[in-house]
Amino acid sequence: MKGIILAGGSGTRLYPITHAISKQLLPIYDKPMIYYPLSILMLAKIRDVLIISNPEYVDLYKNLFGNGNHLGMNIEYKIQEKPKGLADAFIVGEEFIKDEPVSLILGDNVFYGVGFRLILEEASKLKDGALIFGYYVNNPRDFGVVEFDDKGKVLSLEEKPENPKSHYAIPGLYFYDNTVVEKAKSLKPSKRGELEITDLNKEYLKEGKLKVSLLGRGYAWLDTGTYDGLANATDFVKTIQKRTGLYVSCIEEIAYRNKWIDKEQLIKLGKKYEKTDYGKYILRIADELEEK
Ligand code: DAU
Repeated sequence: MKGIILAGGSGTRLYPITHAISKQLLPIYDKPMIYYPLSILMLAKIRDVLIISNPEYVDLYKNLFGNGNHLGMNIEYKIQEKPKGLADAFIVGEEFIKDEPVSLILGDNVFYGVGFRLILEEASKLKDGALIFGYYVNNPRDFGVVEFDDKGKVLSLEEKPENPKSHYAIPGLYFYDNTVVEKAKSLKPSKRGELEITDLNKEYLKEGKLKVSLLGRGYAWLDTGTYDGLANATDFVKTIQKRTGLYVSCIEEIAYRNKWIDKEQLIKLGKKYEKTDYGKYILRIADELEEK
């Protein structure tokens, strides 16, 4: 399975912070926002990743991750000329996806929870149909919303409905079979002029091939789209890291635990950031975790 991180958009809701910088590069506590979605793909054992961003920002991501080889990954880049919608990722990414299934994660979505790795590893085995998630929120109006019957069967999907039929929002993490490319190409822009991911999911629903997996209340899915959301996400990561001494979304640690890099490489990466707690953490992990 391949992975796409969508890191474009205009970021207008965070002006003036995002006036001159890509939203997904803003810090959430001690690392750039995009580390969090990248770590989710890595936990799903997805090694081939495409980062899509605006013409003015794509080079910043190249500076950050290069070709990804230092993490034992292959990271590629594509430009999205205009924010045409989330489903446009599969059109922009067609050449990268080739004939494989693909996962899309939004560059501003932060997830955290025990056992997520197992859910992700299972999800990344998908070959046929689509898998999305449902997460109970207070403000479903702001998201794609999924409605179920008593048996958990999906009844409807709506994008930012005025009157939501449930409290279950659809987070920005999606797993699709290879037909997603053709399905995306067949979509018509919505009233707001975008190729909507919800319309894409409806195509799978029509075919009876849409699975929705609920993320229980033990999971955190954080909103980074507002000033408060950003500040809360920073507080959340800081609290967990300070309390446990274990880092959230340390991509170097995940690459090592996945056995994509060896101890020598982990130490090399840690030394690059040696003056910071982040670098010291990487070196501590290299010291504590036995190479298996
Ligand atoms: O976060 C989950 C929600 O994301 C879902 O529940 C919704 O169904 C889905 O439509 C989406 O809603 P948003 O209103 O949050 O989408 P937004 O336009 O803010 O875009 C999400 C991210 O994707 C954002 O970081 C910018 C980036 N983006 C967006 C568009 C439309 C792109 O890179 N390119 C685009 O064309």
